[in-house]
Amino acid sequence: MATVRVVVGGAVFDRGRLLAARRSAPPELAGRWELPGGKLEPGETPREALVRELREELGVEAEPLERIAGEWPLKPGYVLQVWTARLLSGEARPLEDHDELRWLTPDRVDEVDWLDQDRPAVAAAMRLL
Ligand code: C5P
Repeated sequence: MATVRVVVGGAVFDRGRLLAARRSAPPELAGRWELPGGKLEPGETPREALVRELREELGVEAEPLERIAGEWPLKPGYVLQVWTARLLSGEARPLEDHDELRWLTPDRVDEVDWLDQDRPAVAAAMRLL
């Protein structure tokens, strides 16, 4: 039986703003905005994976806070789960997978073209902000 693999995304908050990251690849996703994150590696918990992904992709240390209720299908065999997270240290830079970052205040959260699968989690995250 095929197991479903989890992709974890982070709704990273800092000083009342949400971090959005623009994908640079693959071609069908490039230019769309997402909550940064990625696939769990074997043996990792979602929280551990999120900490690692945010370190690799953005060069920051972050603390996962709470899971946003729900789970969203991605390509076959993958689902997206999202945690809120707090920035602990570092200044986010697009080191891997992204070519631009934006810190969005609640009134500007709709100004970027979010990936469809991230939209419900973004809306839920803004209700927590
Ligand atoms: O970043 P990574 O390539 O590991 O992500 C795995 C898959 O999860 C990508 O194909 C992307 O479509 C999806 N993803 C997503 N929303 C996110 C993070 C990843 O749809 N916030």
